[in-house]
Amino acid sequence: MNSDNRIKVRANGPLLCTGDIEVYAADGQLLEKSADLVLCRCGHSGSKPFCDGSHREAGFRHDAVLADIQSDEARQAAGPLKITLRENAMLIARGPMTLLGSDGTVAATRNKAGLCRCGHSSNKPFCDGSHKAAGFEG
Ligand code: FES
Repeated sequence: MNSDNRIKVRANGPLLCTGDIEVYAADGQLLEKSADLVLCRCGHSGSKPFCDGSHREAGFRHDAVLADIQSDEARQAAGPLKITLRENAMLIARGPMTLLGSDGTVAATRNKAGLCRCGHSSNKPFCDGSHKAAGFEG
């Protein structure tokens, strides 16, 4: 079953999130609840965690062709997709979600994912810890 919560990874650009989406700050404060929002994954937005178009000027590059991404073993839960910032680090997404590549094909269904928002991961769209070496702040 594919979730109605979708994260489409846009080539050279942000995460397009649709469905029942909630975004929380690192301290747990609700920042946004929306059916449609756009999250920065290049690390350059002036309005993190949201995309402000800075990825173009920054020359962010990732083709977002998602190959060999594993789905969760567990049956997908119901409910909203809660995305929480980690200070100076990744996004933690919890809840049912379908990840799509830039061509719109379903890459995986998950209940949890740690997503890169610094732009430096070698395992995009997932975090690989590169934010530390990159000195990412946000
Ligand atoms: S992905 Fe758009 S500003 Fe970072």
